[in-house]
Amino acid sequence: MAQRKWLICQSEALKDAERGIRFQAEWRHTPVPAFVVRFQGKVHGYINECQHVPVELDFNEGDFFDLSGQYLICATHGAYYSPDTGLCRGGPCKGRRLTKLHLIEEAGAVYFLPDESKLHE
Ligand code: FES
Repeated sequence: MAQRKWLICQSEALKDAERGIRFQAEWRHTPVPAFVVRFQGKVHGYINECQHVPVELDFNEGDFFDLSGQYLICATHGAYYSPDTGLCRGGPCKGRRLTKLHLIEEAGAVYFLPDESKLHE
């Protein structure tokens, strides 16, 4: 069976440690809000849900990075996460992780792989 892959955006739309892009992913057969960012050259995707309270991280759409560009930050209470692993490094949910999604970047575009992402549960 062919691997499903969903186009999220063109590669050039994601600049390192700048605005992310929201998209609709699928998790356990359910549509969920998600986002993708670029950090240190690589793309990383997560379900857009803080591990403290189930709210989306970005109050202003696409604003996932803190001012330093080193962490993803929750706009509600300031939890901050490593962009490459999703591990919460500080704040009320320190030690928990964002749910990471499987992405690929090829031929100048970024794709979500819904079937591969199930393997990360
Ligand atoms: S809801 Fe994200 S830190 Fe509280």
